[in-house]
Amino acid sequence: MKIIRSREMLAAEIKGYQKKQQSIGFVPTMGYLHEGHLALVAAAKQENEIVVMSIFVNPAQFGPNEDLESYPRDEVHDRKLAEANGVDLLFIPSVEVMYPENLTAEIHVKQRISVLDGAARPGHFDGVVTVLAKLFHLVQPTNAYFGQKDAQQVAVVEGFVADYFFPVTIRVIPTVREQDGLAKSSRNVYLTAQERKEAAVIHEALVKAREQLSKTRDREAILANIRSFIDKQTTHHGMVYLDMYQYPSFEAVTDWMIRLLLPFVYNIRRPD
Ligand code: PAF
Repeated sequence: MKIIRSREMLAAEIKGYQKKQQSIGFVPTMGYLHEGHLALVAAAKQENEIVVMSIFVNPAQFGPNEDLESYPRDEVHDRKLAEANGVDLLFIPSVEVMYPENLTAEIHVKQRISVLDGAARPGHFDGVVTVLAKLFHLVQPTNAYFGQKDAQQVAVVEGFVADYFFPVTIRVIPTVREQDGLAKSSRNVYLTAQERKEAAVIHEALVKAREQLSKTRDREAILANIRSFIDKQTTHHGMVYLDMYQYPSFEAVTDWMIRLLLPFVYNIRRPD
């Protein structure tokens, strides 16, 4: 596995792959790798001749009071995991490499962001598409891999790529979960033992919501039931949001739309 930190060296490697007409599968990450990332790598390996992964904790997608400084990092561990799982090229740029100058033009996401993380984290998705535009230009991937767990991110990225004709196919890979159903996430390390135990309720609640859909299409009733189920099971009342939206517009769900949306949230793979 090659480890590259500069744009120039990355460009030379990418040119080499292109000369040999090799397809490139790209897995953009912020590091602190877990099985969710490795599932993206496995899919990229299956579908491409070359797998490129990036590790970059992107300051542009963190708000002023968010966890940029404390975001978990372990480059040595990440390098080992990436190599053991067949990554061909690992790109680990510094902030100076990715943002050498203040941007003269900024990208602002306009749709799909008025709710959920888009509302809770103003500017977050602007930062995500900004860094992805840079990474896509540098890596020139055939396919790029994202976890279904981040459904709103996937919708925003799919819209952005379509808007600006990026010649890349976005591949969405099912969420990898812990034994008790909690989605794997680098940020799970923030949880105390008690919070970690209680976090399993999120998956249970989604399963319950799906069951309720077979009995009612009353959106408000389902949300109220799920909210009370979560409240009863947890001592830590830190819920930021609980809602249902249409995919990929993230507009309000009307009753007849519930059946279309929940499978995505619950993680059933969409047809390719
Ligand atoms: O999902 C993430 O880890 C990040 O948002 C991404 C796509 C790597 C962009 O920084």
